[in-house]
Amino acid sequence: MITTAARNEDFSYRLWRYDGAPGELIPLLQSAQDHFGYIPRRAISYISDVTGVPESEVYGVITFYSQFRLQPMGKYVIKACDGTACHVQNARMIIDTLEDELGIEVNGTTEDGLFTLSTVACIGCCSLAPVMMINDDTHGRLTPQSVRKVIREYRRRENAERSRAAASCGETAAR
Ligand code: FES
Repeated sequence: MITTAARNEDFSYRLWRYDGAPGELIPLLQSAQDHFGYIPRRAISYISDVTGVPESEVYGVITFYSQFRLQPMGKYVIKACDGTACHVQNARMIIDTLEDELGIEVNGTTEDGLFTLSTVACIGCCSLAPVMMINDDTHGRLTPQSVRKVIREYRRRENAERSRAAASCGETAAR
């Protein structure tokens, strides 16, 4: 497992050894994303300062490549499969339902930071098509109804957890 310290070191190392080669910008951005989980504003300024590439150009590169993110990932990362087996089983309808239920588009993150929606080419469970993963959990043979049910269950559990945490804070404060 790559530790935060190792990622930090890798990011600093890449910045330090940057020699102005145009091809270096991508690994540098990749390194920033590995470190922060996305590319924050401060990393763009930092990279721009070190490389001399104007911020607007750095930003242009980030938005050109779909692998780069300008927002942090949600607590739950949904990977909706749009591979061939899922596609023929109405994966598009599943993705549309997810967008509607979450109120975001693919590659977006909900405002509460709970969900990030992405698509993948194949999860490797084609016999369960259409399929999605939420973090490490696989959900298969999806229908628009079951998708909404799964998302609402995650939200319900999250709200219950938050209420429990708030109640225990209240108890601690009352002591
Ligand atoms: S195509 Fe969707 S799991 Fe393989």
